[in-house]
Amino acid sequence: MTRHLLRDDDLTPTEQAEILALAADLKKDRWQIQPLAGPQTVAVIFDKSSTRTRVSFAVGIADLGGSPLIISTANSQLGGKETPADTARVLERQVAAIVWRTYAQAGLEEMAAGTRVPVINALSDDFHPCQILADLLTIQEHKGELKGLTLAFFGDGRTNMGQSYVLGGVTAGMHVRVASPVEYAPREDVVADADRRAEQTGGSVALYTDPNEAAAGADIIVTDTWVSMGKEDEKLQRLRDLTPYKVSQELMSLAKDDAIFIHCLPADRGYEVDAEVIDGPQGVVWDEAENRLHAQKALLVWLLQQQ
Ligand code: CP
Ligand code: NVA
Repeated sequence: MTRHLLRDDDLTPTEQAEILALAADLKKDRWQIQPLAGPQTVAVIFDKSSTRTRVSFAVGIADLGGSPLIISTANSQLGGKETPADTARVLERQVAAIVWRTYAQAGLEEMAAGTRVPVINALSDDFHPCQILADLLTIQEHKGELKGLTLAFFGDGRTNMGQSYVLGGVTAGMHVRVASPVEYAPREDVVADADRRAEQTGGSVALYTDPNEAAAGADIIVTDTWVSMGKEDEKLQRLRDLTPYKVSQELMSLAKDDAIFIHCLPADRGYEVDAEVIDGPQGVVWDEAENRLHAQKALLVWLLQQQ
């Protein structure tokens, strides 16, 4: 059966660990595996803007011996005249895999249901599983392990990053804390799915409204933009609601002394994080950005092996 990555819990804990191990290995020797040599093509479709995802998929597919076909929905039929299911049926006859950054998770589900090739979620409104794989690789590099660590996320817990940390972090056996106003907490069904996964891995999810409580003793401090793509109309309200959840040096000082700070980027310095934190000695965001490449290559190799 074709495997896809639409949300973080599409991977079992064992599968997630296998992909992370392969990513670490590929990072040591970038060109050691070329499953797409031929070359085969991978379609990478964008409904939203991107720097990291676009570059890391294009470079990664080339590293694996293939050709990236970058498609903007603004000048394709998808999103206008054609459904995800019909687009999938056209693409599957010509490409090895489909990578898609879009709005609704339902579109990705329709695309995956309609195709024999793997579909990868390159960010939807609900989840960003490729980023979480890169983040877990980064944490593993800096901390030597994942299981049992405490990751505290601050701000908009209902967006793709917040919800993906909940599912992906618990899959890795981490204790995930989300600090946000109640109306920005991760969706209840996502938390329930993470709770079920936690029974398997020994991880946990806990929701907080007090940022200081959430930061206390954490190993990893993380935030994301307060104004995700598609939420621009809510900007002023979001700035008002989320200001108490800004990651400042004061908040960092409540975490463990050796805590690291991660952020998927792009960052709004002075809003969700102060410059002295993201650009300071605890910030590891450039390693994190590089790791998009290695993590996604490993994901592609793994998904193609399941075919
Ligand atoms: N972190 C991330 O996905 O960045 P881009 O929006 O630049 O792809
Ligand atoms: N939550 C952000 C992530 C950007 C990579 C957004 O959706 O805009």
